[in-house]
Amino acid sequence: MKEKMIKAFRNANGGLFSSVEKADVGGSYQELEKQGVALMGWADPFMPDFSLPEHVKKATIQAIEAAAAPHYTAPIGNQVLKNKIAEKLKKQNGLTVDPQRNILITPGSDSGLYFAMLPFIEAGDEVLIPAPSYPNNFLNVEIMGGRTVPVPLKESNQFQIEIDEFEKRVSEHTKMVVLTHPNNPTTTVFNRSSLEALADFVIRHDLILVCDQAFEDFCYENEMITPASLPGMFERTITVFSFSKGMGLSGYRVAYLVCSDVIMDTMFANAVSVLGATNTVSQLAILAALEDPSFMKEFETAFDYRRKKAYEIINSIPHVSMLMPESGFLCWVNVSELGKSSDIVSYLVKEAKVSVNDGINYGIGGEGHLRIVLGVYRDNQRVVDALLRIKEALEKYQQQ
Ligand SMILES: Cc1ncc(COP(=O)(O)O)c(C=O)c1O
Repeated sequence: MKEKMIKAFRNANGGLFSSVEKADVGGSYQELEKQGVALMGWADPFMPDFSLPEHVKKATIQAIEAAAAPHYTAPIGNQVLKNKIAEKLKKQNGLTVDPQRNILITPGSDSGLYFAMLPFIEAGDEVLIPAPSYPNNFLNVEIMGGRTVPVPLKESNQFQIEIDEFEKRVSEHTKMVVLTHPNNPTTTVFNRSSLEALADFVIRHDLILVCDQAFEDFCYENEMITPASLPGMFERTITVFSFSKGMGLSGYRVAYLVCSDVIMDTMFANAVSVLGATNTVSQLAILAALEDPSFMKEFETAFDYRRKKAYEIINSIPHVSMLMPESGFLCWVNVSELGKSSDIVSYLVKEAKVSVNDGINYGIGGEGHLRIVLGVYRDNQRVVDALLRIKEALEKYQQQ
């Protein structure tokens, strides 16, 4: 049966016939949790602890009790929510949009990201992806029959964009650039000169930019620039946003796309057929979160503390290093001097009772690295304890 499938699916392993060390596949994570392993490979803030803000909880209960609860929202999204999002886009992203023409609410941004690429990519098209990058960026293009062309981001340049590397790889088949900004896994907030050079490149070569800003909320000392706000870019950019990371509301499955009227017209035409409508109750809960997002301050304080602690603890391990995370609640650790990252990931589960992500999942530049999710647990001390266990284990690993 599998030979009848397209390659991108055929080669994927769902964990039914063997165990898969991937956070969102199979049952291995639940198994690890039962064994008391800290799950620092799942980018879901404060998982597995309770973290729902009280006013969002109340809005959820109220929404469930309303007559509208079991029904579709006007399929392309709650209009009041879109108005509120437009206000946020103006204030936070420098984008002035018509809420009813330029915003599409989607059931999470993973499907939104896929849908953003779908109208453009067909067999033979090439997509430039600065890497290491979010794994779905590669998978989505391959499912559509396109070819991914990774563009290396280098630690020696703080993982910023080097436009020469793009120029070397552009061809007559290049259709799109997919940028995860801030980047997952490296946490890089692309700076103004990187983004202006990229915008110039995209316009000169007449390309589309898909920009995933799922991690835009906590950028600490860096300026977060939305590429669609740069001159000439709105018309050729689809920006993907999410409420999963900054607000920690991943289970509600609400996200949104922003783009020009011309692109949005086809999106509106196909959204319900391809993606389905977004949960009605969830949209009302997200509206309450947007009306009072003050709870995010506490999240930011916790993540800021954790990244500084991680920087101190990880860099005190001989032959292991990391840059200071620039955004969010991840860290990207270089263990290349110790050996293969997959061996180290397995070792850490056994020795430190901590599960982290193997860098090889993030494309070129990923081997020899670990992605560690610092957003796990509500309690900062449990995170610090897990980091100290990682330190102890990696020191022991080197003595063996
Ligand atoms: C970079 C990035 N984009 C998008 C997503 C998808 O998030 P969601 O579908 O919950 O909005 C994730 C989730 O891990 C992510 O890391």
